[in-house]
Amino acid sequence: MGLRVEPSGGACGARITGVDLKAPLDSATVAAVRSAWLEHHVLAFPDQHLDDDQLERFTLQFGQFGEDPFFAPIAGRQHIAAIRREADEQSPLFAENWHADWSFQARPPSGTCLNAIEIPPVGGDTLFANQHRAWEALSPAQQARYADLIAVHSAKLPYAPDGTYGAKDTGRSMDIRPSEAALATQTHLLVPAHPETGRRGFYSTLGYIIGIEGMAQDEAIALLMELQAWQGDERFVFAQKWEPGMLVMWDNRSVLHKATGGYEGYRRELHRTTIAAWEG
Ligand code: SIN
Repeated sequence: MGLRVEPSGGACGARITGVDLKAPLDSATVAAVRSAWLEHHVLAFPDQHLDDDQLERFTLQFGQFGEDPFFAPIAGRQHIAAIRREADEQSPLFAENWHADWSFQARPPSGTCLNAIEIPPVGGDTLFANQHRAWEALSPAQQARYADLIAVHSAKLPYAPDGTYGAKDTGRSMDIRPSEAALATQTHLLVPAHPETGRRGFYSTLGYIIGIEGMAQDEAIALLMELQAWQGDERFVFAQKWEPGMLVMWDNRSVLHKATGGYEGYRRELHRTTIAAWEG
C-alpha cells in the first residue's frame, strides 16, 4: 500500500494514509512525507497509535530533537512534553493564542509532532494559520511596509516568573517551568524566506514577538496587533480535528497554531516533540 496524500481543501493541511509510522520508514517514504509537509504544512496521520519510542523514532527521521525550554519532559524521556488538561481543570487553556513554537530561540524548531494520547469526543481542535498565504494576499504596497522589518522575540510574556504561566498560574496539570531565562530577546526577520522552499511568509506573531527593531514601542505594538488580526484571518486558517491514535506534524516556519477548548468535562493529552532547525 503506497503513501496517500489527501489535501484538506482548506488553507493548509493534508491527511496521510498508507504508511505505518510504528516501523522505521525507508528513505523514499521519508522524502515523500517531507515533500508533502513542505507543500501542505500540516500533516495528519490517522490511526497510528504510536508509543513514546515510536514517536521519538518518527521525529528523528526529520531532524534532531529541538531544544524545549520551560517545560519538564515526561518521566523517563528528555525530548517529549505532555500537552495535558484534566477533565476538571479550571486553569486557562494552554497555548490558546497564535504562535510559532519557540520563535524566541536563535535557531527555532523547523517543526513539531503532536501525538494523540487521549482525545476528547468533542472540541479540542488545533487551529493552523498559513503564513505564506497571509503574506501573499497582501498588496505590493502592504508588503513593502513589512518586507524588511526585524522582529524582536522573547518568551517573557508567557514564561517569565510573572508571565502567563508564572507564579500566578495555579491548578495547571501541565509541568511548565517559568524562569528568568524567558527575559532574553532574539531577532528574526518578520517575513523570512522559508529555508527549504524559499517561499516568504510571516514568522511568528504578537506574543512571542514583543517589538520591532528601530520602531517606537507603542507604534510597534499597534502594528503587531493589526498584523496579528490579519495573520489569523479565517481565509488562512485550517482547523485540525483530532482522532484517537492520530499523529500531527506541522511546519513551524510556515504556520501559526493555537489550541481551542470546547471539551469541558473531558481529559485531553498529547505528547509533543520538536524537530530542530534544518541544517540544509
Ligand atoms: C501546542 O501549541 O503545542 C498545543 C496545541 C494544542 O493543544 O492543540
